[in-house]
Amino acid sequence: MSENLKNIWAGKRVFLTGHTGFKGGWAALWLASKGAIVRGYALDPCTEPNLFTEAKIGSVIEDIRGDIRDGAAVDAAMIGFKPDVVFHMAAQPLVRYSYADPIGTFETNVIGTARVLDAVRRTPSVRAVVSITTDKCYENKEWLWGYRETDPLGGYDPYSSSKACAEIVSAAYRQSYFPVGEMATHRCGVATGRAGNVIGGGDWSTDRLIPDLVRGFLAGEPVRIRRPDAIRPWQHVLEPVLGYILLAEKLLTGNPRYATAFNFGPSDDDAQTVGWIVERMTKHWGGNASWVLDEDPSVHEAGYLKLDASRARAELNWHPSLRLDTALLWLVDWYKAWQSGADMHRFTLDQIAAYESLPSVH
Ligand SMILES: NC(=O)c1ccc[n+]([C@@H]2O[C@H](COP(=O)([O-])OP(=O)(O)OC[C@H]3O[C@@H](n4cnc5c(N)ncnc54)[C@H](O)[C@@H]3O)[C@@H](O)[C@H]2O)c1
Repeated sequence: MSENLKNIWAGKRVFLTGHTGFKGGWAALWLASKGAIVRGYALDPCTEPNLFTEAKIGSVIEDIRGDIRDGAAVDAAMIGFKPDVVFHMAAQPLVRYSYADPIGTFETNVIGTARVLDAVRRTPSVRAVVSITTDKCYENKEWLWGYRETDPLGGYDPYSSSKACAEIVSAAYRQSYFPVGEMATHRCGVATGRAGNVIGGGDWSTDRLIPDLVRGFLAGEPVRIRRPDAIRPWQHVLEPVLGYILLAEKLLTGNPRYATAFNFGPSDDDAQTVGWIVERMTKHWGGNASWVLDEDPSVHEAGYLKLDASRARAELNWHPSLRLDTALLWLVDWYKAWQSGADMHRFTLDQIAAYESLPSVH
């Protein structure tokens, strides 16, 4: 992928929501390593431990704590900073938690997205907005084919529905305030990125497969696994983050064709079952790592979901670089390095550098 990433980031001003989270942490560190001046805006990290603290992300970016639902605070943080690019990653991202707190999920994911886009209206320096949603924004038909950007939006559970709403909010802001046909005048392209299940070092969220496995392995306890037959578009976190960065680069060229939605999904044979991931993780971790079946999934979760990333491949020259099994080895290395007290800022940067030097899988 090395031929892909342009050296345009030195000195670019980037406003990134969600920098205290998993994806935002990797993105912040990567962009800072390319010379971008990054201001992060988010609530405190949701977990202890967390990537932000363990990888010392705050040592290379500006760290502002605030709520995206608070319009005045978002304005105050964004307008004076004069960003060139806005990456919006802050969200309530958990399906199961969204059943417990649907209103909080809709407020953060829908109104919060509108607040961030509304602040962009008052920030004339912005040339590119990449708003992050999810593969779950599609109306899930449980079919065999990958979803395309033109397929209907939907969402069974509050999280998925809120992300479909965030897509509709982003489209409304694009059409109303940053129309594609008038980009030469307003000079701001608004796009969305839809990625699947993201894995990598530094995620400690509850009710996510990899953090659940790692917690169990570290505690020496068998891990309870729900729905081993469910298929997800698993990807290392650096794959979609590269997609978001390439998308921002294209928007910065001022070409209106990129102001739209993009899927970022793995190649077909890396859309694996939960059971496959669990078996591979158990093997890679070694020792007495083990798991048991949880017979009571209790809430509805999608059974089959695949993304068609043809548009990103053709328009952004984005291609997955890490095969799934290698991604699992990388994340096991990450957690084991953390467990042994390694410098996780350095370690995370080294994985980014290793990723940059990989050839694309295609
Ligand atoms: N991790 C995945 O597998 C995955 C898959 C598809 C899409 N996504 C999307 O990617 C984005 C990042 O997800 P993640 O896995 O890094 O989540 P995360 O939980 O690790 O991080 C969420 C971030 O959002 C911030 N945040 C939450 N509510 C906020 C609020 N009201 N105001 C300000 N900040 C707030 C948190 O402080 C944190 O920085 C989200 O939009 C998520 O929906 C994630």
